[in-house]
Amino acid sequence: MEQMRRLLIKNAKALVGTFPVGAQRAAGAAMAQLPMIEDGWLLAEDGRISGLGSMSNFPGITDWSDLTVIDATGRYVLPGWCDPHTHTVFAAPREEEFVDKIKGLSYQDIAARGGGILNSAMKLRAMSEDDLFAQAKSRLEEMMRQGTVAVEIKSGYGLTLESELKMLRVAHRLKEALPLQIKTTLLAAHALPPEFKEDRAAYIDLICNEMIPQVAGEKLADFVDVFCETNYFTALEMERVLEAGAKHGLPGKVHVNQFTSIGAIQAAVKHKALSVDHLEVMEETDLDALVGSNVMPTLLPSCSFFLRIPYAPARQVIDRGLPVALASDHNPGSTPSGNLNLVLSLACIQLRLLPEEAITALTLNAAAAMLVEDDLGSLAIGKRASLLITREIPSLAYLPYAFGADHLDTVLIDGKPVRSGEVLR
Ligand code: NIG
Ligand code: FE
Repeated sequence: MEQMRRLLIKNAKALVGTFPVGAQRAAGAAMAQLPMIEDGWLLAEDGRISGLGSMSNFPGITDWSDLTVIDATGRYVLPGWCDPHTHTVFAAPREEEFVDKIKGLSYQDIAARGGGILNSAMKLRAMSEDDLFAQAKSRLEEMMRQGTVAVEIKSGYGLTLESELKMLRVAHRLKEALPLQIKTTLLAAHALPPEFKEDRAAYIDLICNEMIPQVAGEKLADFVDVFCETNYFTALEMERVLEAGAKHGLPGKVHVNQFTSIGAIQAAVKHKALSVDHLEVMEETDLDALVGSNVMPTLLPSCSFFLRIPYAPARQVIDRGLPVALASDHNPGSTPSGNLNLVLSLACIQLRLLPEEAITALTLNAAAAMLVEDDLGSLAIGKRASLLITREIPSLAYLPYAFGADHLDTVLIDGKPVRSGEVLR
């Protein structure tokens, strides 16, 4: 199976997400126009999609040698899920805070007691690179089995030059070790480290003058991020980091409006950030600021679910003609799950996205939110054959509807199975 060079999927109930070659993202009403080919076939060669169409136009294949054939009768074929916002490299879970939350403490209460991000930072600083790597690898292997074919991974639990570099190096080793696509983000501005309690400006200087140049020089990150939030970093501080990132070719993907609205969206739009993520607390003026910009609103409904905080106003975003991407936010504090199938269900149930909109948000738009849209996010000739084949399900809406169940049969990355169900023979 490993050497599978040519792969034919035939009789698919539908090929889903067959956007035209070159489609970059879908916004507003177009998000519900998810293109599909019913009763379809798809051919992949050397890990890339080389042909697709309807069985009524099935190609005359003359050379059947060296061809693996999957009969997908009754099953859907979709582009693999992309996860453009995670913190998957971390040292330890935080179940004790979970129990404190059940007893009534909020995310902010826990952080004020020295828990939260700083708790994770102390543990990460003490952990070896090899241990961090081994843990993150098994998390990512599980995410791949659940259909994730690309993931963005942030630093942000180091909060020193040395430990932030350690996290990014681990992410790069994961890139070498695993077949999924990985993009990395420097999130040194995740929380103010205790060493800088009396001098915030000095920490921002360290990020802008030392961390960003070094990380960019060693090509350890693709993006920069800031947790722009009350008690974390201000919009002005975020602007400084975005400016320094831009100077070194690192676009911004930023945490904004999770708990409070403090001008972060306007600042992110001004600095042409690639994405603004969270958006649980949005004023009308925040929504207005997004209109006409190119920034990708990226929503994280499993974070709202876990923290019992409001869900982002996804319908208002889409109704203004804007695109929406979805991500897991996988991290030990606010979202200890990297399961994008659950995100799909929560997006439909809680954000009121139509199944077609949610699938667009987890594929085409999620790929755009991490700059892998030339390779992933749709079924189009030339893109990577990183695909999901479902089990037999009655309709596409059944996928988010029957939440919590596993509807995937096969997950392929670059044409190779990372999970093969009964259908793959
Ligand atoms: O996206 N909001 C900031 N960062 C993470 C949580 C990090 C943590 O609690 O460890 C988030 O929710
Ligand atoms: Fe996050």
